Amino acid sequence: MTALNVVVLAAGQGKRMYSNLPKVLHKLAGKPMLQHVMDSANALSPSKMCVIYGHGGGTVPSAFPESSAIWAKQEPQLGTGHAVMQAIPHLEQDGLTLILYGDVPLTRAETLTALTDVAKTGKLAVLTIELADPTGYGRIVRDGKGNITGIVEHKDATPEQHKIREVNTGIMAVPTQRLSRWLSQLKNDNAQKEYYLTDIIAMAVSENVPVAAVHPSAEWETLGINSKVQLAQLERTHQSNIAQALLERGVTLADPARIDVRGTLTCGNDVFIDINCVFEGNVTLGDNVSIASGCVLKNVTIANDTQIAPYSVLDDAIVGADCRIGPYARLRPGTKLADGAHVGNFVELKNTELGKGSKANHLAYVGDATVGSNVNIGAGTITCNYDGANKYRTIIEDDVFIGSDTQLVAPVTVRKGATLGAGTTLTKDAPAGELTISRAKQVTIPGWKRPVKTSKK
Ligand code: UD1
Ligand code: CA
Repeated sequence: MTALNVVVLAAGQGKRMYSNLPKVLHKLAGKPMLQHVMDSANALSPSKMCVIYGHGGGTVPSAFPESSAIWAKQEPQLGTGHAVMQAIPHLEQDGLTLILYGDVPLTRAETLTALTDVAKTGKLAVLTIELADPTGYGRIVRDGKGNITGIVEHKDATPEQHKIREVNTGIMAVPTQRLSRWLSQLKNDNAQKEYYLTDIIAMAVSENVPVAAVHPSAEWETLGINSKVQLAQLERTHQSNIAQALLERGVTLADPARIDVRGTLTCGNDVFIDINCVFEGNVTLGDNVSIASGCVLKNVTIANDTQIAPYSVLDDAIVGADCRIGPYARLRPGTKLADGAHVGNFVELKNTELGKGSKANHLAYVGDATVGSNVNIGAGTITCNYDGANKYRTIIEDDVFIGSDTQLVAPVTVRKGATLGAGTTLTKDAPAGELTISRAKQVTIPGWKRPVKTSKK
């Protein structure tokens, strides 16, 4: 097997972002663009990955604490060739090196594989594409037979070369030993006084090393981000690709232009998603699940036939089958709903399990609670789970009925089949099967009169 190195160039400043954050840390679909690049590269299982950073200093490496990448600093930044030179000491000297750009986030792993497959045969493989407007890009220069003879940067090109529409995307795969040697021979006698990586193409040609062009399946794979305008455009392209894939998988989207997936959304059959929903992290929806408009779901698993009504926010929750949630429900981390549970409007659950068929239909806060099956939690019910220093659990056993406006002062247990009268402040365990109530006795003051305004003289 040929050793594969990956070098990611990410030292540039990104002036046109007008941001204190280094460009490659700006997010696309909720993930730093550099992470997209590293993820695609990792799909090729490289033996070494070296990221070249510079502008923004340590903030770039420290944004990826889990990554096994090697970080090499390029300072000052003297061009793309100079950037790759910084990686050479960290690479395996045999095999190939794939060069990627931290600000070109959406290149597919399949395209990169096609490129490295060509380089494995000893060629220098360049990812090129024909653009309607090639302004600014390095042009692919070919001889009369169509063989690539070099790349000329826009600023160095002749008027004749400016007409060439095939451009260098910047991404290439090169046999590593040759790459090291060619880089050491680069000169900066060009319009920008930079060490151009692209000059290695002419070096390869002069040594009779064949240069081959590989093309991506779509233009967006090669688009770089230099501004918020381009970031927004590529975000829309990416979201539209995701929506397309969901439609092809059989998901019904009310409007494919109005869904945002910032992570992975996995759907069963007959899933319906209304407009303006956001999915973050890993979300899994079972068969026949329906998500109404304006919902935000992050790291959520939902079983078959469950319906989420509009404007519900679910975060780190597991929802069973055939549940009804919302509108305006909030499931916070650690919420687990068993099959058939109902959570209605303005109900907040946190670190709480709701058993089979249990309901909290209106205006409630249930936190740090274990709720059994067939429990009815009345409107206005609140678990007082926090004493200002510590949190305590509330246990509500099966078949309990909790009257409206009840406060359960944890730690406290409501035993099986108990009923709590409306307005109860429960501070001691409620016994099974009985009515427990804490409420001032109702009195009527006979003949009481409302005060009347004293007239001013
Ligand atoms: C480069 C290519 C050009 C190609 C274009 C595609 C060269 C000489 N030119 O041009 O043929 O059409 O990309 O977008 O390679 N970087 C560093 N260190 C440096 C310089 C650049 O890390 O010293 C990084 C940048 O952060 C960026 C990438 O390399 O991610 C490309 O640099 P950029 O200056 O944008 O190159 P271009 O001039 O656009
Ligand atoms: Ca560029």
